[in-house]
Amino acid sequence: MYRAAIIGCGAIHRLHANALQTIPNAQLTAVVDNIKYRAEDAAEMYGCPMYVDYHDVLSDESIDVVHICTPHHLHYSMTMDALEAGKHVLTEKPIATRVSDAEAMVSKAVQVGRRLGVTFQNRYNPNSRRAKELLEEGVLGDILGLKGLVIWHRNESYYNSEDWRGSWDLEGGGVLINQAIHTVDLMQWLGGPVTSVSGQIATHALSDFIEVEDMASGFLKFANGASGVFFATNDFSANCPVEVEIHGTKGSLIVRGDDLLLNGELVDIQSVTGQTVKNKSYWGLGHQDLISSFYTALESNSREYVPGEEGLKALAIIKGFYHSALKGKPIEL
Ligand SMILES: NC(=O)c1ccc[n+]([C@@H]2O[C@H](COP(=O)([O-])OP(=O)(O)OC[C@H]3O[C@@H](n4cnc5c(N)ncnc54)[C@H](O)[C@@H]3O)[C@@H](O)[C@H]2O)c1
Repeated sequence: MYRAAIIGCGAIHRLHANALQTIPNAQLTAVVDNIKYRAEDAAEMYGCPMYVDYHDVLSDESIDVVHICTPHHLHYSMTMDALEAGKHVLTEKPIATRVSDAEAMVSKAVQVGRRLGVTFQNRYNPNSRRAKELLEEGVLGDILGLKGLVIWHRNESYYNSEDWRGSWDLEGGGVLINQAIHTVDLMQWLGGPVTSVSGQIATHALSDFIEVEDMASGFLKFANGASGVFFATNDFSANCPVEVEIHGTKGSLIVRGDDLLLNGELVDIQSVTGQTVKNKSYWGLGHQDLISSFYTALESNSREYVPGEEGLKALAIIKGFYHSALKGKPIEL
């Protein structure tokens, strides 16, 4: 049984807590939030002790795993402290706000012999998993191109809800590093390593409320020679299904919302993966599967989870877009 603590009891922590309650080899043992009432509410909800200072949980030797569900700028320092204290860490995305910090986190996990996982739960959506299998079977032949589209809605009240949102220092960026990072990750997971990127960012509808970008476009070169095009915005009036298309010499695969299309035909995912496609929201419901796989990997010592190295790859692409936008030229990764 792995004893787990959650640091940060805001919007996303419930998905971690709910998953932990169903995982046979995990037990939610403590919750932490520096806003006391949030920690108290979570402690009452999950029947466990609460803390306001995360160092108290790190000094508790009975805790094995720490889930980091705090604002982006805290992921680096909290992960480093937790690894140093001998805990395994599952952090929410992005792994960090700086590539050098993410590199240090990955190295630290190796150095102390603990696991570092990153929450890219959309990899566990049945259509994403099936797309990965089909690509590995070679149904598309050689991959020629990838397309990623994230067209979502965020408004003033979303950005005003927490101080860290919409800030370069605390969030580390806008639609790219927060909302679209999942889709960038899917593109590099399905398309393979990315060697260079160029990007443009802008702030349109939300410019009165945020300093970061609410719209971004990008071009990616993949090591296999494929080209990628990418567009993300928080300025639409609704949250559209995310779309990733992979185009190859033998046809195309489209991951769109819950669906998977191979050469325009819907693929029967359920009969293949054995999973029911849940009535999921536009951003995916893979937390349960991702968190479960992390605990399975702890017990079996396998690599079947989303490790820190993968969080680093997606962050490097995102930061490449930002640097390219600033410098007005492509960035080699
Ligand atoms: N994987 C996903 O699809 C997904 C979805 C939503 C959010 N997230 C990620 O989850 C993380 C949290 O997002 P959120 O929407 O829950 O934010 P939130 O602001 O609702 O919650 C963050 C919580 O962390 C607490 N906190 C801040 N500083 C702390 C400290 N020093 N010690 C302890 N607690 C502290 C805050 O009080 C707050 O309760 C972010 O990294 C975000 O990108 C991921």
